Amino acid sequence: MSLAQEKGLLRFLTCGSVDDGKSTLIGHLLFDCNEVSEDGLARLHAQSQAGGRAGAALDYSLLVDGLMAEREQGITIDVAYRYFSTPKRKFIVADTPGHEQYTRNMATGASNSDLAILLVDASKGLQIQTKRHSKIVSLMGIRHLVLAVNKMDLVEYRQDVFDTIAADYLTFAQKLGDCDIQAIPLSALQGDNLSRHSEAMAWYDGPTLLDHLETVDTSHAVKVSAFRLPVQWVNRPNANFRGYSGTISAGQVSIGDDVRIGPSGALSKIASILTPDGEAKSAGIGEAVTVTLADERDISRGNVIAAADDPPPVSDQFAAHVIWMHQQPLLPGRQLQLRLGAQSVNAAVTELKYVINYEDNSHNAGKTLGFNETGYCNLALDHPVVFDTFENNRDMGSFILVDKLSNETVGAGMIAFGLRRADNVHWQAMDVDKQARAALKGQKPCVLWFTGLSGSGKSTIANLLEKRLLARGGHTYLLDGDNVRHGLNRDLGFTDADRVENIRRIGEVSRLMVDAGLLVMVSFISPFRSERRLARQMVEDGEFVEVFVDTPLEICEERDVKGLYKKARAGQIKNFTGIDSPYEAPENPEIHLHAADKTPEELAEEVFAVLEAKGIV
Ligand code: ADX
Repeated sequence: MSLAQEKGLLRFLTCGSVDDGKSTLIGHLLFDCNEVSEDGLARLHAQSQAGGRAGAALDYSLLVDGLMAEREQGITIDVAYRYFSTPKRKFIVADTPGHEQYTRNMATGASNSDLAILLVDASKGLQIQTKRHSKIVSLMGIRHLVLAVNKMDLVEYRQDVFDTIAADYLTFAQKLGDCDIQAIPLSALQGDNLSRHSEAMAWYDGPTLLDHLETVDTSHAVKVSAFRLPVQWVNRPNANFRGYSGTISAGQVSIGDDVRIGPSGALSKIASILTPDGEAKSAGIGEAVTVTLADERDISRGNVIAAADDPPPVSDQFAAHVIWMHQQPLLPGRQLQLRLGAQSVNAAVTELKYVINYEDNSHNAGKTLGFNETGYCNLALDHPVVFDTFENNRDMGSFILVDKLSNETVGAGMIAFGLRRADNVHWQAMDVDKQARAALKGQKPCVLWFTGLSGSGKSTIANLLEKRLLARGGHTYLLDGDNVRHGLNRDLGFTDADRVENIRRIGEVSRLMVDAGLLVMVSFISPFRSERRLARQMVEDGEFVEVFVDTPLEICEERDVKGLYKKARAGQIKNFTGIDSPYEAPENPEIHLHAADKTPEELAEEVFAVLEAKGIV
């Protein structure tokens, strides 16, 4: 039987700012539950004397912080799990260090927890931070909250202080949805209402923190009861055996059960079940198993084996809450990697519907998501994934978003539902295809993507090149930033978010034009690597030729053909590329034009020569 399934296990985490007393609270709880060894105790006495934060008293936080320091030397995981137990229950505390990346660590801890303790400093009252943490843990599916009003000793254990904080919090928390909330006045330092009732707070007749942790009922965590086995590993030691290994994330399975494999939809039956203890007739949620099937099916890591009559949805679009965890804001349209269990696909937020205001839970309109903000969005993936809604299954309903260049985790998401609109739109296969259209024109269609600063000469060179190609009988089209911004993209400005969308659309348009068999010239500043790469990926290998028009900023500014640099310097234009908005130069362009000391004619000729050499013209 797995830990999660074992009766009497509670997983929880503590949230609070650095000085709210998180470490003291956990340290004191461990101490009260006799989880500190003789050695540890002796060390604690010595260290507390030598300068703990608690004066002459024992500094319980040292029990936890000592471990933290150890961890900081070789940070491999962001969240540490601590185990302790009482005769009534076992506990796992997710300990999330309170530094910069706090929200990320907290979300990681929360994703495995049943309950959250929100620490508030009684002497400071409720902070926006507490509200933000409450919202995040409730979004992460935690239905049990404890408002630990700590440091009551600093406010003379006054009931009115506690009552005000608790009442404020309850008013706020009404909008959190279906949560059970217990407010407890305590002093983590003195031990009041931790594991023993406080004499100094005789007015409080609720449970102590430990009483509450021991008795709270969290038995409704997973709502899906149908069988789900996300395949982590295809186990194939020899030609005669093919097993699928993973941890059962919902339901039960028995030999002979009909199963459906997602995303393919193929059907089969369970032939055998292997557990760490040997063969079994059945197995259930939380168990690590290897199953074999009655039929040969093409199954790989990331597929899901599920109950045939109640399979999980499969979609390449869904609506989800996204918690953004990076200093660089989320930009809709930008490509990210989405990882859901062992599945990994490319994804982009296609629409940010609203941003949550943590203060009162209301919804604000927004174009981007900033650090630690949460939004509700639609996402589109480049391949369908198998999932459940987060409400039904936290494992299969949550994902992380990873930056494709830095490989950092930048967001976490919880799926609300799959978008059906994608189901009814199918790709139409046409009889006349790209090859046929290109053959008629006698050319090899491609995108010539000119990138560079405003005034670098992109459009001038592209224009000369187009004339040259046309003279050779080429079929061409020139997409130019200034022109397209008068029509298709007239709704877009020059914020980062708008530039991402500008280039995404132009990528799509040039893809259609390549499909039409044309030689497409694109002349856009296109300042971001990420979107130029997206445009490259939209066409086939060899169809994208990136031309970096490399003219130094000083020269562009000196030319100032449109007078825009002058205005930008005078502060009349905001977000001007090269001035107060970045330009990320290409690292490996197919053609690098050192444009400063050559004429546009020479540069156009240079491009033409490369196209000839590549067999494009
Ligand atoms: S991009 O960055 O989104 O690729 P795009 O190529 O479409 O830009 O448009 C750039 C042109 O818009 C410039 O050549 C210039 O004429 C004009 N422009 C107006 N405001 C700005 C600005 N803030 N930054 C850059 N270009 C601007």
